[in-house]
Amino acid sequence: MSPTTHPEPIRLADYRPPVCEFEEISLDFVLDPDVTTVTSRLKVKTRSGAPETLALDGRELTLKSIKIDDRPLGRDEFQVDREHLTLIDVPSTCLIEIVTTIAPRLNSALMGLYLSNGIYCTQCEAEGFRRITYFLDRPDVMTRYKVRIEADLASCPVLLSNGNPVGGGKLANGRHFALWEDPFRKPAYLFALVAGDLACLEDHHVTRSGRRVALKLYADSAAIDQCAHAMDSLKRSMRWDEDAYGLEYDLDLFQIVGVGDFNFGAMENKGLNIFNTSALLARTDTSTDGDFQQVERIVAHEYFHNWSGDRVTCRDWFQLTLKEGLTVFRDQQFSSDMHSAAVKRIADVMLLRETQFAEDAGPLAHPIRPESYVEINNFYTRTVYEKGAEVVRMLHTLLGAELFRKGIDLYFARHDGSAVTCEDFVQAMADVSGRDLRRFMRWYSQAGTPEVRVTREFDSSTGSLTLEFTQSTPPTPGQQAKLPLHIPIRVGLVGRDGQALPLQLAGENAKGETARVLELTEERQSFTFVGLDAAPVPSILRGFSAPVRLRSDLTKDDLLHLLKHDEDAFNRWEAAQSLAAEAIVQAIRMSPQRQPVPDADLIQAYSRLLEGSIEQDHAFVARTLSLPGRSFIAQQLSVIDVDAMHRVFKTFQETIGRELEAPLLAAYRSMARIDDGSTRTAAMAARTLKNAALAYLVIGQPAKFEPLAVSQYRQSSMMTDRLSALRILAEIDGAAGASLLEDFYGRWQNEPLVVNKWFALQAGIEDYKSPERVEALMQHPAFTLANPNRVRALLGTFSMANLIGFHREDGAGYRLLADKVIELDSKNAQVAARLLTTFGRWRRFDLHRQQMMKSQLERILAVPGLSRDSYEIASKSLG
Ligand code: ARG
Ligand code: ZN
Repeated sequence: MSPTTHPEPIRLADYRPPVCEFEEISLDFVLDPDVTTVTSRLKVKTRSGAPETLALDGRELTLKSIKIDDRPLGRDEFQVDREHLTLIDVPSTCLIEIVTTIAPRLNSALMGLYLSNGIYCTQCEAEGFRRITYFLDRPDVMTRYKVRIEADLASCPVLLSNGNPVGGGKLANGRHFALWEDPFRKPAYLFALVAGDLACLEDHHVTRSGRRVALKLYADSAAIDQCAHAMDSLKRSMRWDEDAYGLEYDLDLFQIVGVGDFNFGAMENKGLNIFNTSALLARTDTSTDGDFQQVERIVAHEYFHNWSGDRVTCRDWFQLTLKEGLTVFRDQQFSSDMHSAAVKRIADVMLLRETQFAEDAGPLAHPIRPESYVEINNFYTRTVYEKGAEVVRMLHTLLGAELFRKGIDLYFARHDGSAVTCEDFVQAMADVSGRDLRRFMRWYSQAGTPEVRVTREFDSSTGSLTLEFTQSTPPTPGQQAKLPLHIPIRVGLVGRDGQALPLQLAGENAKGETARVLELTEERQSFTFVGLDAAPVPSILRGFSAPVRLRSDLTKDDLLHLLKHDEDAFNRWEAAQSLAAEAIVQAIRMSPQRQPVPDADLIQAYSRLLEGSIEQDHAFVARTLSLPGRSFIAQQLSVIDVDAMHRVFKTFQETIGRELEAPLLAAYRSMARIDDGSTRTAAMAARTLKNAALAYLVIGQPAKFEPLAVSQYRQSSMMTDRLSALRILAEIDGAAGASLLEDFYGRWQNEPLVVNKWFALQAGIEDYKSPERVEALMQHPAFTLANPNRVRALLGTFSMANLIGFHREDGAGYRLLADKVIELDSKNAQVAARLLTTFGRWRRFDLHRQQMMKSQLERILAVPGLSRDSYEIASKSLG
């Protein structure tokens, strides 16, 4: 065995501009599954104006020939190793021609050019272009692309690339070709090529300035009837970006292609987005309401990247949050304009707290702009994306909508066509507002979730309420000492009678506003509100105005008061969550000595919500009635006791289901009447509440309500209803579950995305038999490690969402995951490394489980030839 050499980290501090520019690249592809020939012609100009040594990136390429200005290079004029082609003394201006071959059929990493169900497609972000040809594969090298694609006409009638089609035709031997030109300079990570037998859905959009843009969605012919929702979403996104930001699309053609094998959701390649079919296809009989919303969101996200990402891109990969944080923020704004803003904010905050907060508290914690990485693919994280979006949101909160928009305008005007940094973004915001944002910049460099504590004091003699805030951030790996941050805290005061009170700070004139933003910049600060008759209940961190953990001294009565009266919908929901979380955490601490029960006040509050007099938005009611997520609760325990957690959640659900039988059943029936089977926001909301009620009812009294779930499964034609019913039936493990699971598979075995749901549902059933069940499912003929969606459905769900099954005390779940990570690592390192992140939580469990998880990490680290991806996650997890 060869000694293990550890890959070296790459550091932000080592950034140097590239030695040369490429004015233009012309790429010629002769497509073949086993030997695709790529000819690249680069118009080179060195920055120094003198000859330079040029180290081009390349991986898994077979080099055929190199010419400089038409002169073939001899063997001693260049060097090739596993990652580079180094050319010595390249003239200051010249034309380099490089011919390489690649094997798309053997490409299981799904980076570079690969085949998915016979369709050629590419994925170049972050560093996939170097698997296509030798190049300076870094985002600050922006080039104009001309592409020629040649392929077999029968198997590849459709040939696509970025920009505009400019020619093509038939060739001998049943081959044909197409020519594409992209007028916009772009970094290599935005290059795309697609070739195959694809069906097309066409439409168009007329921009605000009157230009007509052709819209084309491509998918397998069997799936093209599931593309209408994506097309609608695209048109809405294009309109929204014009209305909200004044940003128009800039080419005459916008294309999206869906492929079944894809490492993540989708990719914003200029003019040719490539999507995982799971983020593109939607039809009510095969997709849930959640899928519809996800498709809409991802279509919007990738479209919005055309400005925040493509027109203005990142200087280097450390700046990834510059485009991702901003684009996630934009897609959040879009979704909240399309549907219920409160429900959208709640969903986003839940995701942030359950996943990003956990990441920020573990061994993989990193700032939204990391300082170093071993493998950049490991940094497409909840922190870079979702916390990154929160940081942009805080700027929006601090500046207000109008100045924020001015800042965005200035940012795009200043930097259009270039590759920039996070400082450039914040500078634009500082320049339009005149604000000092230097302390705010710490959000980009400091990891960890800040904790904000607030206590209050009411002085009845002066009618004033003082809120005293302190902030601190716990240490994270490599960052022991933390500095205070600039934190916007949106607040309101709710009077004893439920009225929103005007907020007047001591020393200020009354303005009559009932909500305002306090700014924390120091470790300790206090604010005194005056003009109050009696002690109000403060409503703090409204709308979750900063990604922090808030610790307040609100009592149970205060929370019940806020749940009833707070004009901020987010904080009404938050009050219910806090009440439930408090009760659950207490019950877990007492378990198993005492039988856990939710308290009567909470049940009563739920009952009032269900009766529907207070809240109009049914999805909001459903969210508010739902218990907090497992991961959110786990973060509040010093040691995660999976068995106690499971028992407590189950008992809480059973009790709520039993005690609220009448209002739950009434809500179920009235929601079923509102539900018209459409995907309008109101119908989706009704289904959300209907299915939340069904789940409580069936868990509360399985024998009594199983038939209701069975009849919903059988009678509904909507996947949302079917899957909700099936999930609950499988979970209670009653008479119907097993046979309906079989029925479900039988109906949908030819729809890959539905088969994924079938795998995920079974992987997520929380019981002690799960490791064996998952093991058996891996033997199912429909299971394959080659498809990332399937791997995520079965192994991802099992390891992330099945607490008692995955963490079973004999370690069977851990062994199973590690076995598969090891098997996958040599095929698709990106997916393997992602699965591996669950083990990073090992310190949170009891010593016995810690030991078992740790030894699986050590076992993985000892694998000879382990990928950089998995090496980085495993070694940091142990570190
Ligand atoms: N830029 C894509 C998006 O957010 C995701 C690319 C993910 N790339 C990766 N190597 N993980 O829309
Ligand atoms: Zn993105």
